Amino acid sequence: MPKEKILYLFVFLFYQRSLMMNIKNRLKKIPFLVPFYRKIIHKYVKRKSHLTGKVTYDELAKLSDDELLSLMRHESHRIEKTIYNNILQSKYSIYRSKWHKLGLIYQVLESRNYPSNESTFLWSKKIYHAFDNLEQDFVQKNSILPPQFNSDLAPEFIDFLRARRSVRVWSAEQPSKSEFRQIAHQMIDAAKWAPTSGNRQPWRFLILVEPEQKELLREIKENHCISAPLLIFVGMDTRFYGALGKSERSIYIDAGAAIMQMVLVAHKCGLGVCWNHFADDLIGSREANKTIYSNFTHKLNIPKYIAPIAIIATGIPKFIPPEPARMEIENLLIDNCT
Ligand SMILES: Cc1cc2nc3c(=O)[nH]c(=O)nc-3n(C[C@H](O)[C@H](O)[C@H](O)COP(=O)(O)O)c2cc1C
Repeated sequence: MPKEKILYLFVFLFYQRSLMMNIKNRLKKIPFLVPFYRKIIHKYVKRKSHLTGKVTYDELAKLSDDELLSLMRHESHRIEKTIYNNILQSKYSIYRSKWHKLGLIYQVLESRNYPSNESTFLWSKKIYHAFDNLEQDFVQKNSILPPQFNSDLAPEFIDFLRARRSVRVWSAEQPSKSEFRQIAHQMIDAAKWAPTSGNRQPWRFLILVEPEQKELLREIKENHCISAPLLIFVGMDTRFYGALGKSERSIYIDAGAAIMQMVLVAHKCGLGVCWNHFADDLIGSREANKTIYSNFTHKLNIPKYIAPIAIIATGIPKFIPPEPARMEIENLLIDNCT
C-alpha cells in the first residue's frame, strides 16, 4: 500500500476513535440512556475482565495460587469496604456474588492443599464468615480506637524524612552478608505494610548480596549499584493486574509506596539507600540493556510476569551527601502556578 494511503488510514482511525469517545461521553450524560449504555458496556467491554464478575470453579482453577490469592484479597477488600461506604444493602446481589466467588477460590486453594494458615487467607475467611453480619462481626469486632490528633508530632517526623539522602558512596566497613539479609527482610516487612490498589499486594523482591549477582547489572546500572553491599530488586506481579482486568497504571504507584517504606526503615537503622530506576523504559531503551536484563532474569530465575521496577542499593554510607534543595511549599501549591 502506498505511504500516503497508510497515513490517511491512520488519520481516519484516529479521528474515528476520538469521535466514538466523544459520542460515548455524551451518551453517558443522558439519564434515560444510562441503563441501556451500561448493558452495552457490560456485554462488550466487561467481558474482557470477566474475573471481576461472575466466575465458575473451572475458570478459577486455571489460575495460579498467587493469582487466586490476589483475587481473593481484592474481592475481600471490596466486600469489607461496602460497610464504610454503606452500600452492602443497596448492592447486595453484587457483593453476594463476590462472596460466592470467595467460596470457590477457597475450594480451589484447598483442593491444592494450600496452607490454610496463610495470613491473608485467614483475614479473607474472617470477612467471608462474617458476611451476613459484617459490620458487627468483622468491622466492629476488629477495629481499634484512633489515636489523639496532635499536629505537634509532625515536625520531628519531617526532620527524620528530611535527613534521608540518596547515598551512592559506601563505607569500607560494612555489616556481614547475613546481617544485610536480615535488614533486607525488615525492609520487606516494612514494604508489605504499604497500601496497594485493591489490596493486591503484588510486590516481589530479590535480595542480592553476592558480588557475582550484582555484577549482572554492570553496564545497565551505575557503579554505586554494583558496589553496594546490599541490592534489593523490586518487581511487581503483573498477573494480578491483568487477571483483574484493571488498568496497569497503579502498578508503579503501588510499587513506589512500598519502596519508600523500605527506604525509610533502612534510614531509621542508620543505613544509606539509593533508589535506582529499573523499569521497562530503561531496559527497552537500547538493545544492550535488553540483553543484560534477559541474562539477569535468566540467571536469577525471575519469571516473565514480574515487571521490573527498581534496584534499591543499601549500605553504610561513607558520608551523607549535601542536601539537594527542595522547592518552597508556596511554589508547590497549584493556586500559585504561573
Ligand atoms: C523513582 C526514582 C528513581 C530513581 N532512580 C535513580 C537512579 O537510577 N540512579 C540514581 O543515582 N538515583 C536515582 N534516584 C534518586 C534521585 O536522584 C534522588 O532521590 C534525588 O536526586 C533527590 O536526592 P535525595 O534523595 O538525596 O533527596 C531515583 C529516585 C526515585 C524516586
